[in-house]
Amino acid sequence: MCGIVGYIGYKNAVPILMEGLQKLEYRGYDSAGVAVYTKESIEVRKYKGRLSVLEEHLKKETLDGCLGIGHTRWATHGEPSDVNSHPHTNCSGDIVVVHNGIIENYMSIKSMLKEHGYVFISETDTEVLAHYLDFLYEGDLVEAVKRVLEKIRGSYAFAVISRKEPDKIVCVRKENPLIVGIGNGENFIASDIPAILNHTRKIYLLNENELAVIEKDSISFFDENGRKVSKEIFEVNWDVAAAEKEGFEHFMIKEIHEQPKAVKDTMTSRVLPDSADIKLDDIKLTKEELQKFDKIYMVACGTAYHACMVGKYVVERLARIPVEVDIASEFRYRNPIVNEKTLTIIVSQSGETLDTLAALKEAKKKGSRILSIVNVVGSSIARESHDVLYTWAGPEIAVASTKAYTTQLIAIYIIALYMSKLKGTLKDEEITTIKDEMRKLPQLVEETLKHKSIIQKFATKNSNAKDIFYMGRGIDYAVALEGSLKLKEISYIHSEAYAAGELKHGTIALIEKGTIVMAVLTQDELYEKMVSNVKEVKARGAFVFAIAKEGNTEVETVADYTLYIPKVPDILAPVVAVMPLQLLAYYMAVEKGCDVDKPRNLAKSVTVE
Ligand code: AGP
Repeated sequence: MCGIVGYIGYKNAVPILMEGLQKLEYRGYDSAGVAVYTKESIEVRKYKGRLSVLEEHLKKETLDGCLGIGHTRWATHGEPSDVNSHPHTNCSGDIVVVHNGIIENYMSIKSMLKEHGYVFISETDTEVLAHYLDFLYEGDLVEAVKRVLEKIRGSYAFAVISRKEPDKIVCVRKENPLIVGIGNGENFIASDIPAILNHTRKIYLLNENELAVIEKDSISFFDENGRKVSKEIFEVNWDVAAAEKEGFEHFMIKEIHEQPKAVKDTMTSRVLPDSADIKLDDIKLTKEELQKFDKIYMVACGTAYHACMVGKYVVERLARIPVEVDIASEFRYRNPIVNEKTLTIIVSQSGETLDTLAALKEAKKKGSRILSIVNVVGSSIARESHDVLYTWAGPEIAVASTKAYTTQLIAIYIIALYMSKLKGTLKDEEITTIKDEMRKLPQLVEETLKHKSIIQKFATKNSNAKDIFYMGRGIDYAVALEGSLKLKEISYIHSEAYAAGELKHGTIALIEKGTIVMAVLTQDELYEKMVSNVKEVKARGAFVFAIAKEGNTEVETVADYTLYIPKVPDILAPVVAVMPLQLLAYYMAVEKGCDVDKPRNLAKSVTVE
């Protein structure tokens, strides 16, 4: 996630900006920069890499000024580079912007501005803001920002300063956090509380679509209709560590709750309403190229592999191309049957997993086209691929992957729909229907997360379990695999996931009185079969916790507990059904006193064999 800081007051801005950016480092970034008003001009210094790179340059040439903004960038549009780093300016350099989020319609605005002679130097959507503000500026920065807000679409938080009005910072928020810190003769802005905690504990929280005008002795707020609003002051009583988690106890639970936004962001500008079109600027696969593929491999590790397991059902059902799923560490040594008629889809949150990168190179060496789904822009796997579809989950700090998984599923749906459109395997209205249902997912995920207290109670009662089984059929089996891994890796409780139809071929011998079985029953077409499997394990004494769709109530007559998720098309169910499983793993680990964010023996990115 990008980080924004800003200062206006009587002290030198640079040390305050740099300290604030350091406090935001935990959010993950690939470049950093500052802009300071130094009486004659606004000086911008921005570099790819860690904050230390920026620091070294600032030591060589100090910038003196009491107004400034700073930024750490987590790349979405445009590779990590000096020129793509923030802040961005208009051509004359007297309007400067830092931005967090996504301007969905930046390409159309960019084309219009280019027709008006504007020259762009970066690939970012943020630079469009700077030039657009210039285009609409008529002597009043606040008015120019209001006019820009009427035209842009997306989810964003941004801050603007101008050489012509060096007495203010203008900032706005829409679906991306932004706070205002209240000082004495000085004021602050930041994406997150840790950035300013050393200066003030009195803050204003910007609400959706609010605009703030920050001067050194005054702060004013306006709602989306331009009306002035008054706001309560929020007294922060967190310490820095708690503030980095925005009040959540662990990064994992914070990231579980970020999933509605992460899912929405990953769909943004790709799954547009009212048409069967899928907009994939990042993928150049043509109809002719797609027609030549006779097989798709989906290759990954861990949770990403489980996303591929869902992907097999999805791509085969929507695009009707045979899909083989493989674990990267197996694929790379199996001398797989891969050639130029194979499309290899590589999935990786970090984009650096060594086994997955090696598998990619093996497939590429054999002539396969490589399409990757990655969460880190410019990562090794992204750079080695022919096409990349980025998930926009933001940095995932907890070792246990949650929002990366659900956004990988979204990316897989988008690719499968894109292929079905190119191949004509679905009618336009079928594609439009699935897209309409996809756009409901953020809300359905939000609703499902509301069950957390029930799951927490169950976890508290059963955290001393020695074995927990997960079972499902079809796409629910893939979800069961992910639920089982989550539990194992953070609570250290042994667990196995099984295709429910397979239990009777051996594993059911392990079921005895009190064995906990998590049963996932979201697939309407397999529901009755799953109810029978629940009866099978119940007959052996199991305690069954069932996850089913609202309305499918038969299972509660046999299961010990049934948690209902909102109605959702079978093919999209994994995005919602995985929520209770993530929460169960989390609360089990908390109850056992495990190190939830950094489980023993594990690393966030496995860059070794
Ligand atoms: C997921 O919870 C695990 N931490 C792990 O299995 C992870 O998914 C796997 O190492 C793959 O990582 P990647 O997605 O960064 O390639």
